[in-house]
Amino acid sequence: MKALEGVKVLDFTHVQSGPTCTQLLAWFGADVIKVERPGVGDATRAQLIDVPGADSLYFTMLNHNKRSIELNSKNPTGKEVLTRLIETCDVLVENFAPGAMDRMGLSWERIQEINPRIILASVKGFGPGKYEDCKVYENIAQCAGGAASTTGFRDGLPLVTGAQIGDSGTGLHLALGIVTALFQREKTGRGQKVLASMQDGVLNLCRVKLRDQQRLAAGPLKEYSQYGEGIPFDEATPRAGNDSGGGQPGRILKCKGWETDPNAYIYFITQAAAWEGVCDVIGKPEWKTDPAYATPAARLPKLNEIFDTIEAWTMTRSKFEVMDLCNPRDIPVGPILSMKELAEDEGLRETGTIVEVDHPVRGKYLSVGCPIKLSDSPVEVTRSPLLGEHTDEILASVLGYETEDLRRIYASGAVGDPTRIAAE
Ligand code: COA
Repeated sequence: MKALEGVKVLDFTHVQSGPTCTQLLAWFGADVIKVERPGVGDATRAQLIDVPGADSLYFTMLNHNKRSIELNSKNPTGKEVLTRLIETCDVLVENFAPGAMDRMGLSWERIQEINPRIILASVKGFGPGKYEDCKVYENIAQCAGGAASTTGFRDGLPLVTGAQIGDSGTGLHLALGIVTALFQREKTGRGQKVLASMQDGVLNLCRVKLRDQQRLAAGPLKEYSQYGEGIPFDEATPRAGNDSGGGQPGRILKCKGWETDPNAYIYFITQAAAWEGVCDVIGKPEWKTDPAYATPAARLPKLNEIFDTIEAWTMTRSKFEVMDLCNPRDIPVGPILSMKELAEDEGLRETGTIVEVDHPVRGKYLSVGCPIKLSDSPVEVTRSPLLGEHTDEILASVLGYETEDLRRIYASGAVGDPTRIAAE
């Protein structure tokens, strides 16, 4: 069996944050029923199109293992069907703009009236407060959650990161909230509201930067490169370039081929415990005993010189050779892997972290599989649904509608494609 087998999720999500959450629940075995606007569907189906006529990779890669029902939640018959879905499901997940659920007539009070056991899980841009009514996308959350002000180089612009910490990161937070609420419901029998705000999620991931904000009161942040460079600290946690977030100095260094390959770099950490190994591997054994280099405190003001010396060595090797030479000495290093290298990585294919999926319209494509591995709940990644692919199946076998009702529902326009009546 799968961990969440038997759990029914009414997936009212769109774009990225909500869909990443419900995709995880589907991979853990929940039956995820994605409600989409008739004829339109999740906006991402038509965004960043690479194969004309096919659902985009943006959509397919966020909506595996789900079923899709087309349903107009503002049509009276659509509302009736939606009410039945709420009665039947264990969890309702949504990430509409603030107020949209209320405007559909689905306040928390109304949802509880319909099904007191249901868990209502929402992603919003901000938690309660002055910004609670704002619509929010990924980069806004990265900026509002403290990631941008602490990313980039001290003398450059704030930067956003490629990792979708606002969207996918918040989806992860929400998924944990949902399974926790399901666990509590086992004891109380009651559902509850779960809120994951994108600002909160990003700030949670920037926890170490709020740590540093408070440490500033006690003096300069000595592990930051700017300390060694003699540049005074301001009032707020600064951007730290590629310095590591822990106390161990680290940098991204050039490797052989960097002149032409934008990813011929390695992250190199001069961890105190591995210092002797570093000295040996780069050919500086004298630094092991020289008091000017032998202790972490002595090294802090000289980090630029030390990393320049290490880089002179890494530039003579490929990033993979540096890995091979450093790992046996327990020196923590990490190659800068391109998306091309990751896509071709055999090891990631074997673990199911990169999967090839077949789609009836677009054909084969690569996706990221489930990143969390449960030993007793295997994941099989199946393709995303076509728009409304399971409308009939859900109306009949999940909600138990029979012929007359089905004809009435199809005729109402609540579930799209009126040709269904003819098919009936
Ligand atoms: N049937 C009928 N109407 C539907 C529907 C359905 N099946 N599904 C959605 N709608 C309607 C909504 O009710 C809403 O109508 P309203 O404005 O009259 O209330 C409308 O579609 C648009 O929904 P909305 O969420 O406002 O979409 P948007 O494209 O304007 O905004 C976001 C997109 C992402 C900015 C916004 O949804 C948001 O801020 N979400 C919360 C934060 C979030 O998740 N952001 C990250 C996205 S990756």
